[in-house]
Amino acid sequence: MTQHKPFETQAPSVMVEGKGMRLWDVEGTEYLDAVSGGVWTVNVGYGRASIANAVCEQLTRLNYYAGSGGTVPAALFAERLLEKMHGLSRVYYSNSGSEANEKVFKMVRQISTQHYNGKKSKILYRERDYHGTTIATLSACGQSQRMEGYGPFLDGFVAVPDCLEYRRGDTSSESFAEISAKAIEDVILREGPDSIGALCLEPITAGGGVIVPPDGYWPRVMELCRKYDILLHIDEVVCGFGRTGEWFGYQNYGIQPDFVTMAKGVASGYAAISCTVTTEAVFEKFKAFPDDPMNMFRDISTFGGCTAGPAAALENLAILEQENLLDNTRKMGAYLEQKLLSLKDKHAIVGDVRGKGLFWGIELVKNREDDKTPVSERTIAAVVGGCRQQGVLIGATNRSVPGYNNTLCLSPALIATPHDLDHITDALDKTLQKTRCEIS
Ligand SMILES: Cc1ncc(COP(=O)(O)O)c(C=O)c1O
Repeated sequence: MTQHKPFETQAPSVMVEGKGMRLWDVEGTEYLDAVSGGVWTVNVGYGRASIANAVCEQLTRLNYYAGSGGTVPAALFAERLLEKMHGLSRVYYSNSGSEANEKVFKMVRQISTQHYNGKKSKILYRERDYHGTTIATLSACGQSQRMEGYGPFLDGFVAVPDCLEYRRGDTSSESFAEISAKAIEDVILREGPDSIGALCLEPITAGGGVIVPPDGYWPRVMELCRKYDILLHIDEVVCGFGRTGEWFGYQNYGIQPDFVTMAKGVASGYAAISCTVTTEAVFEKFKAFPDDPMNMFRDISTFGGCTAGPAAALENLAILEQENLLDNTRKMGAYLEQKLLSLKDKHAIVGDVRGKGLFWGIELVKNREDDKTPVSERTIAAVVGGCRQQGVLIGATNRSVPGYNNTLCLSPALIATPHDLDHITDALDKTLQKTRCEIS
């Protein structure tokens, strides 16, 4: 995420301790972390002894058994997870968001081979979305700078347009939700509905600029999936586990996915765990031909059998419930939104403020009344650096969409208080003031 050369002469940032939303680096400098571990992960905050204890107890009892068998914490966590996910009933464990997404791609391809004679194998993904770092997930990547230099990529992945209303190109009176849905339908018709197996989307695009789809978008997407018999895969790697104020981002929109993938917040970074969750109808397809020894999902993730992940995830989930952190996220999200809108009123450099719950993006532009030219990456880096100098760690879109790496990111832990959010927005306010003087 950063060039290597400078580290020949300057020390990297090394964090050594965390408590709640606070971090200390190796020099002893204290920071308020507004990005939950840099990449929206530590949802319940640092220093949770109860998670460490649950993991310790489990590891000393049984640290591992491969997914070819079962373990008690894996079964218990699956049960608790599915209570939160109406209409879904099967959980598969692996270690990272990328891997969870690849499992879906494999399942879609296997369903295509075994049930559709090779048809319905293509996977649609959206411009600006990100699904991981492996070659298959990069083949489904809507952020070209993440892909640059790593090709060739795989066949069978097709892009649909993004749904960022702030940069809407047309001037028609049609709703942007309708325009965006039609754009997806155009791709489906162009490719041929019988060639398409799944549509893979982030509920709210994260690293591509924190893009909240326009009102009315999701019901239309759902209709398209049902109309053309396309499985809906929602990538909840960032939005899952409370980030938007619901257990999952898609639950804000009343839709029913066929696959849901999740990673970061599942155990808040206390252990590596990811899940691929699906419906009974999809699962049935993997046991439709009991006489065929190849008719099962033929996959194993070695460390999907580690018990630390589900043990940590069980305690993480208990904390979210016991401390009412979803409720806190909704309340603090509303508070943060007001603070950010005030910053927008005050600073002309703020073009757009977007987000939900404790998940926000602030798009910076040179001229918001005119052509909304994005500020340079250097300006974005200066704002991130300015906040850091005031002891607040914020994030920014980085090496993602050429010319549009101009969105600051805030994703504080779900335990944030008004005082924490004041601290974050005050640092941002001062830094934006200074930046305006420097770029004008
Ligand atoms: C939406 C989304 N999906 C998938 C991934 C990949 O997850 P991982 O880095 O755990 O492989 C990320 C990582 O940032 C992500 O933001």
